[in-house]
Amino acid sequence: MTAIDPGDLFTVRGLGVIVTGGASGIGLGYVEALAGRGARVTMFDVDRQRIDSEVGRLRAAGLDVAGEVLDVTDHAALDAAVDSVAARYGTLEAVFANAGIDSGPGFVTGWAGEERPRAPQGALEHYTDQRWNRVIEVNLNGVFATVRAAARHMKMQRRGRIVITTSLAGRRVEPAIGSAYMAAKAGAAHFMHCAALELAAHGVTVNAIAPGFIVTNIGGGHAKAAEVQERMARVIPLGRVGFPADLHGLAVFLASAASSYITGQEIVIDGGWGL
Ligand SMILES: NC(=O)c1ccc[n+]([C@@H]2O[C@H](COP(=O)([O-])OP(=O)(O)OC[C@H]3O[C@@H](n4cnc5c(N)ncnc54)[C@H](O)[C@@H]3O)[C@@H](O)[C@H]2O)c1
Repeated sequence: MTAIDPGDLFTVRGLGVIVTGGASGIGLGYVEALAGRGARVTMFDVDRQRIDSEVGRLRAAGLDVAGEVLDVTDHAALDAAVDSVAARYGTLEAVFANAGIDSGPGFVTGWAGEERPRAPQGALEHYTDQRWNRVIEVNLNGVFATVRAAARHMKMQRRGRIVITTSLAGRRVEPAIGSAYMAAKAGAAHFMHCAALELAAHGVTVNAIAPGFIVTNIGGGHAKAAEVQERMARVIPLGRVGFPADLHGLAVFLASAASSYITGQEIVIDGGWGL
């Protein structure tokens, strides 16, 4: 093991990084955290407008950020895009498999701390194949394809960091969320264990960040409503909802030398909600 200067433990300067779903919310938080500390970061996202505005804003602030319109369900395009970013950076040090969508209503409406009546439109017997398959396609198959594309490069390099955004809802049932979301996130968490074990011999670590309730644009941005945040704050032990900036430290930790002996772990970041 090479000794690391304690001053360099959390350094990400110069690292070549990809963040899927990087134009909004949690992914954008990862981009800001890493590029803000000198990493070279490319965001992949389906939302061209957001890519253009966020890349423009971050570049204007002097950060080394790029963006590509890419759907993680198009595995051939994903492979090609990962190859081209790796070629541009000359190395691929960290990949965040973060892109994800919500899955519409669960079998109750309402969030914690309020009346939660049954919601017929979210009931199992009305759950369409189309809805189930789309969530699995993005939130599970998209993660698989991202990790596979990253592994091809990182195995050759004999180093690399892969970080998957899972969810507290993959560990604990949240009945207001459609069940495909939870199945996909639980699947992604266990896939992370498999990939971590397989890639450990090649010097590549694979971990997951499992957020609780974070204010982003997911689900139409319902978490932005002040009354939703106030209600959730009452059931979250730290007394407030989370924001993408709350994940900055963990993203930097998992991409930096500070976490070099950690692999196969899902780190929950939820203000204690899961307790
Ligand atoms: N917000 C939360 O409370 C929360 C909690 C736990 C886990 N998560 C997970 O965090 C991740 C990020 O979600 P967010 O809350 O920041 O939502 P968000 O909607 O703000 O951001 C998600 C981004 O992913 C992009 N995206 C969606 N489908 C894509 C696809 N097929 N290919 C490429 N990009 C795609 C969207 O355009 C968007 O920019 C997701 O995996 C989500 O499941 C969120």
